[in-house]
Amino acid sequence: MRTLELRDGVVRMIDQRKLPHKVVYVEIRDYETIGRSIKEMWVRGAPAIGAAAGFGMALAAMQSDAATRDAFIAELERVGKELYATRPTAVNLGWATSRILNKVRAANVAVRDLRELVIAEAQAIAEEDVALNQRMAEFGASLINDGDTILHHCNTGPLAAVDVGTALGCIIQAHRQGKKIHVLVDETRPRLQGARLTAWELMQYGVPMTLIADNAAGHYLYRGIATKVFYGADRVAANGDVANKIGSYKLAVVARENNVPVYSVMPTSTIDMSLASGLEIPIEERGEEEVTTIDGVRVAPEGVRVGNPAFDVTPNKYLTAIVTERGIVYPPFEENLLRVMDDAE
Ligand code: MRU
Repeated sequence: MRTLELRDGVVRMIDQRKLPHKVVYVEIRDYETIGRSIKEMWVRGAPAIGAAAGFGMALAAMQSDAATRDAFIAELERVGKELYATRPTAVNLGWATSRILNKVRAANVAVRDLRELVIAEAQAIAEEDVALNQRMAEFGASLINDGDTILHHCNTGPLAAVDVGTALGCIIQAHRQGKKIHVLVDETRPRLQGARLTAWELMQYGVPMTLIADNAAGHYLYRGIATKVFYGADRVAANGDVANKIGSYKLAVVARENNVPVYSVMPTSTIDMSLASGLEIPIEERGEEEVTTIDGVRVAPEGVRVGNPAFDVTPNKYLTAIVTERGIVYPPFEENLLRVMDDAE
């Protein structure tokens, strides 16, 4: 089951807003609706929205009536900017749209062939995502021991990517290897990706788990019940500071206080070497209704002031290691990430 795919000019994706109650697919035929699906989180998770943006570029290319190469490139540049702006923290959006644009700019061929090139590159991004997540899952699973109880934040499973996922991919892989593990699933307010998506995915795979309120995490760390923390990333700065779902930072600090290792798992496409530290990572601020309501039911008084940053930054000193498809990266991150990224080039 793929989270999303492009076939015969139509993008088909699971509408994640309907889970866990219903598995519903939506069909999308234009890039504007792809933009909406990312913004409104029908599809979410850094690698998944990167692939969605790639498919958005492909739909725009298919529908473009640009007559010249220059007009075609100008049109795709505009679409790329629009798609990148839908969710500003996850760098995979910009990575996917730039990768396609670079390919187009480098090809000196007719517009008709450029269209095909965009579609092929978007498909390649999606296919590669699955393959490299599988490699990451192997690396990450090697950090998990028989008997571990792993605290996990947000959703980083197959639904957060084209398939397999990032941090949860490692956990599912460890389970498949026969390791006896247990997962403590943070519910992840305000949008409850843990309760709605991670719990559902782990139950599909038969991985033993317990759903906990975010506020319970410290208790499980202090009592020595949680032995490892795993989460994903939406953007990583060159020094190894990691932006991930709001609440990740707090988790990492309490884990360090209790000598519990913290691992962040992401493809190298999530690493943004242009930013020196996490302070430079733009943090998406989302609508207040995500905080004032739960499942559409208002829980806060009318007129209350709300802050809703969707992500926070874990400073690199709290991370035990960063797991990528190129291997496990240990401190000093500044030096070792540079080496990994140079190898990737
Ligand atoms: O707001 P979301 O649901 O898109 O946030 C997702 C996360 O924060 C994930 O942990 C992240 O994308 C990294 S792993 C897929």
